Amino acid sequence: MAINVKTPRDSFGSRLGVIAAAAGSAIGLGNIWRFPYVAGENGGGAFLMVYIGFIILIGVPVMISEFVIGRSAQRNPVGAFNSLAPKTLWPLTGFLGIIAAFSILAFYTTVSGWTLEYLYLAITDSFKTKTAENLAMSFESFRTSGLRPLIWQNIFMFLTAFIVYRGIRNGIEKYSKILMPLLLLIIIILGIRSITLPGAGEGLLFLFKPDFSKITGAVVLEALGQSFFSLSIGMGTLITYGSYIGKNVKLGNTALSVSAADTLIAILAGVAIFPAVFAFGIAPESGTGLVFIALPLIFEQMTGGYFFALIFFLLLSIAALTSTISVLEVVTAYLSEELSLGRKKATLLAASSIAVLGVACTMSQGPWSGISVGDKNLFDLLEMISANIILPLGGLLIVIFVGWHLSKEKVFAEISNQGNLKAGFRYLYLFIVKFLAPVAIAFVFMHGLGLFRFFGSGD
Ligand code: TRP
Repeated sequence: MAINVKTPRDSFGSRLGVIAAAAGSAIGLGNIWRFPYVAGENGGGAFLMVYIGFIILIGVPVMISEFVIGRSAQRNPVGAFNSLAPKTLWPLTGFLGIIAAFSILAFYTTVSGWTLEYLYLAITDSFKTKTAENLAMSFESFRTSGLRPLIWQNIFMFLTAFIVYRGIRNGIEKYSKILMPLLLLIIIILGIRSITLPGAGEGLLFLFKPDFSKITGAVVLEALGQSFFSLSIGMGTLITYGSYIGKNVKLGNTALSVSAADTLIAILAGVAIFPAVFAFGIAPESGTGLVFIALPLIFEQMTGGYFFALIFFLLLSIAALTSTISVLEVVTAYLSEELSLGRKKATLLAASSIAVLGVACTMSQGPWSGISVGDKNLFDLLEMISANIILPLGGLLIVIFVGWHLSKEKVFAEISNQGNLKAGFRYLYLFIVKFLAPVAIAFVFMHGLGLFRFFGSGD
């Protein structure tokens, strides 16, 4: 089957491969590490409601829009805007994505490094008989120690570069297909163990019972940022992946399946973590260490805990890897297509320059924590700026571009493959990208940054 005869570009081999790779990008530390800790810091149930609302109303349409841009232009984000809107400022949206890729990968590889350390701890059976305090303390001392997290981080970056280097079909697609379903299975098992712990009910109430008095402008912006981060949208990752999607693939269905899988995994991670958090008396707002403290406690309580811990951290590392490759791919595609570097050189240049920022990020957890803005070190800053500022801004520009710059005919032709595929959602979709999503994003954004007030002040 010749799908892409006229272009020498690499592409995904099948429909399932597309979903696996996009879900591989979306599902990662954002679901299992970030979602529980951000939900914990932002009030639990109410946060979850707002989060799910954003996924459906804004996330899915933004994801479709990225696919539309990427597949119609057949280029990296900068090149895509250049070719769809030549001689305009739109390509700056692509550059914003490149900046986001640097910031996200820098702190994301730090956390990915932590998962490798925990994989190592699982292999060496180091969680046994530890209390919540022990685990919290060893996480702190590891996180702030400098050298050890640095080594893991760079091993992780190397693995990421290795896969990106091998290209789309034989690299990215192959690794995503088998491992994601396995991760789902393990999280379900963990969830079952967690909700049967004594005192677990409180955790479920925390996660599912909304207390709307907790909703503030800042919480709503966190929910928007987290929904973008978790779906991998707002910076061109899915523009890039979209450019590798065959014309016969339904973009609407793909976006829906990917978003549903992503949300399911985040909720299941919450179900695994919060009951344990409450059962063991951990504060839900403990921050970035939450999963690394709560999950080992569950493993200690399980028959076969050694085995489950090992598989879990292995799969979590792999889930992180299928996400980091999707971010590195953006910079690699940009460098290789726009600056005509070979793929090999582009990968090396992208990975090594991002690694420099990554090192600074890991060091900012401990040795360099003195360098900070307010109470935020470099890690916190990059995380906050990328998730809560760059991604929503990118998403805003992306929907405005599809809604207002591209013609209705072009957008409809792209999502229906020139009328060959059914796309009954197209009018609703166009309405959302033209009006609802831009207004909602702009509103949440300005409100969250305190530019005006609609909800309470939050204190
Ligand atoms: N979505 C991934 C996660 O939840 C992280 C990620 C990959 C990402 N690519 C991205 C986040 C692009 C934002 C933008 O772990």
